[in-house]
Amino acid sequence: MSLKKHILDLRKRREKVQLGGGEKAIEKQMAMGKMTARSRILALLDNDSFTEYDLFVEHEARDFGMDKKELHGDGVIIGTGTIYGAPVAIFAQDFTVAGGSLGLMHARKITKIMDHALKMRMPLIGINDSGGARIQEGVNSLAGYGEIFYRNTIASGVIPQISVILGPCAGGAVYSPALTDFVFVVDQISKMFITGPNVIKTVLGEEISMEELGGARVHAEITGNAHFFASSELECFEQIKKLISFIPWNNTQKAKVFPPKEPKFNGKIEDIIPADPKQPYDVRDVIKAIVDDSDFFEIQEFFAPNIVIGFGRMNGQTTGFVANQPLVLAGVLDCDSSDKAARFIRYCNAFNIPIITLEDMPGYLPGVDQEHAGVIRHGAKVLYAYSEASVPKITVILRKAYGGGYIAMNSRHLGADFMFAWPTAEIAVMGPEGAANIIFKKEIEEAEDPDKMREVKVQEYIERFANPYVAAAKGYIDSVIEPEETRKLLLHAIEVSSNKIDQRPFKKHGIPPF
Ligand code: HXC
Repeated sequence: MSLKKHILDLRKRREKVQLGGGEKAIEKQMAMGKMTARSRILALLDNDSFTEYDLFVEHEARDFGMDKKELHGDGVIIGTGTIYGAPVAIFAQDFTVAGGSLGLMHARKITKIMDHALKMRMPLIGINDSGGARIQEGVNSLAGYGEIFYRNTIASGVIPQISVILGPCAGGAVYSPALTDFVFVVDQISKMFITGPNVIKTVLGEEISMEELGGARVHAEITGNAHFFASSELECFEQIKKLISFIPWNNTQKAKVFPPKEPKFNGKIEDIIPADPKQPYDVRDVIKAIVDDSDFFEIQEFFAPNIVIGFGRMNGQTTGFVANQPLVLAGVLDCDSSDKAARFIRYCNAFNIPIITLEDMPGYLPGVDQEHAGVIRHGAKVLYAYSEASVPKITVILRKAYGGGYIAMNSRHLGADFMFAWPTAEIAVMGPEGAANIIFKKEIEEAEDPDKMREVKVQEYIERFANPYVAAAKGYIDSVIEPEETRKLLLHAIEVSSNKIDQRPFKKHGIPPF
């Protein structure tokens, strides 16, 4: 055969295989409102940057009539490309080929690209759209999953791992995304569950739709499995691109530095906080008044909204923000918000991202529900994560810093490098009312007018303790600052800590309160 004929033959083969499960299956996929695996990759990556591997891989299964089935690419596309010039490794399961089910060769393709990503120290993106373990391949599919989970774990904290759920992700398949750093879901399209509606009906006799059981909103709002929620696939890809722009390619690097930009905020930062300390406000407004271009990229926006986490840039440098949200539950720490914050702090630490903590909270949420849900165990994660983090850690106390909350929210005592407090800060063991009721119990009870006496004692307590000056006098706070000075001082703190070295004793790993 001449070279030209060889090339034509290659093109024909490529075209056939690139069609995945064929035109009918593609039509079905699109009728479900879903893009195809290939179009997803092309929409996400920089133009012309995708290079595919293992296009011609075929399955090797022989049982249950599989010997007669051709499964193009074995239901998954793998390759490398770039996003805003950053190298990424990617796989996308192709639902048009045997429902994107995972057999031995399908798994081998995924583990190949995972190994490649780890060796080349680049982010890994996995697009999941699959019926789970390929039933006809039995233990081979289970082995495949195990090998993926193992690699997810080995790569954790070394390269960023991103999971995108764009279809069903059922059974054990959910655990690979759960082991990765960021999970993206799309309204009406993403479905994640361990046991599906059929099993639930058989075992428990309960009827539930896939959407109610494990749809995108469920994971974005209730379970916290998802970090980003989008209303369309294209919006989801924009979110992924934005995330990639904020994070470094691996744990030996820092995130790309962008040209600095002043916040777009024109008002006075202190005007965001109401004069009455009991009135709530949106802490995201404070973040936007501080970060470059007022561009704050929030993570897990709809889950445990009593804490706010996300990335912003300070003089062009990616910075992680952890902030109590007075708008929701007065910004308390509870089981879910502790989990949310702790995981994010560990992410920032693993990937060399400085952390700014904005504090305004009355402590841990009291109540039987929280105690029984394990607020001790979950709350401890925040203490662990902050103490463990050796990246630059800066705290600004805006208002309340009571009790365990004062310690937990990156206090000096957990290794904060810089502690700033606004003059409105109240640093105390507990709120003035509760404290006065306990320590002045006798005086209040014995007074002629107990209510008046309580008021007097509350005021006495506020004057003595509910301010930043007691803590500042002991050096627990480095500086009491005017709100307008916040950005300037934070920029300075980040600048002077860029060579921070914080060496810890050798250990294999700690035992965090998982
Ligand atoms: C083999 C599968 C498959 C699977 C789907 N298909 N799932 N083939 N193994 N697990 C095939 C179908 O036979 C069909 O093939 C094609 O994919 C499309 O599937 P449909 O059912 O027609 O699509 P749809 O109606 O959209 O339903 C999608 C679905 C459903 C909800 C995902 O297919 C489903 O419930 N599948 C099984 C899910 C499951 O229980 N998986 C195993 C989980 S256990 P044809 O040839 O007709 O096009 C597990 C253990 C892993 O994963 C443990 C690891 C630790």
